[in-house]
Amino acid sequence: MTNSLRRPLIAGNWKMFLDLAGSVALARGVAAGAPPDGPEVVVAVPFTALTVVGEVLKGSKVKLAAQNLHWEKEGAFTGEVSAAQLKDAGCAAVVIGHSERRQFFGETDETVKKRLTAALAAGLLPIVCVGETLAEREDGRTFKVLETQLTGALTGFGPSQLATLVVAYEPVWAIGTGKTATPAQAQEAHLFIRKTCERLHGAALAAGLRILYGGSVKPDNADALMSEPDLDGALVGGASLKADSFLRIVKFSAPARA
Ligand code: PGA
Repeated sequence: MTNSLRRPLIAGNWKMFLDLAGSVALARGVAAGAPPDGPEVVVAVPFTALTVVGEVLKGSKVKLAAQNLHWEKEGAFTGEVSAAQLKDAGCAAVVIGHSERRQFFGETDETVKKRLTAALAAGLLPIVCVGETLAEREDGRTFKVLETQLTGALTGFGPSQLATLVVAYEPVWAIGTGKTATPAQAQEAHLFIRKTCERLHGAALAAGLRILYGGSVKPDNADALMSEPDLDGALVGGASLKADSFLRIVKFSAPARA
């Protein structure tokens, strides 16, 4: 690792998969296999499984996360879940602005910012997702899109408020498609994200900011991706649904970081 400020973080995103029995079994497998001295490990599970998975993870090094939250404290918001409710259910972290929420559920940079504000106020570790579509990449607009998403979500905070922020770079064209960004493509985007955050919030925040890569991370490409200097971890969808493949990613080996 090029910067000892940044402890690697591997997060699993279970999306809308698994019943309770499957969730418990997977959580047990991950908790049992995550090496005590390895990276920070997080699993983002469906709302309905939070409390049972939280029980399984108690006493383990694996942290519980939700896949979304609502920004209001409480109220008549049918179908929504607040930061306080997530904390109450045992969450330590939350995924915000995943591209599937942006694509299918009307998430905007403005609502990402509201969710981030609520997560920070509650002391939840926020994992804010950004990334371009294939059309945007082919148009040469990748950096512009990342800049707009980051500026929209992250302005209005002081750097100390954002001390726990984690950003996940997830090119939409690589999610669930089996097409991974090459390590060089990912590194280029991560460096751009770090520089943009430096411009917005200063060098200290940027140097300590953990930036995860997401999009078809698998056991056979994790080592190469994690060898890039600005990749500080992974947000893993499909390959996080089996303990074996997720743990192989958790145990990545990256010579450049040794
Ligand atoms: P994937 O999903 O690993 O299945 O591509 C990543 C994500 O959406 O977080």
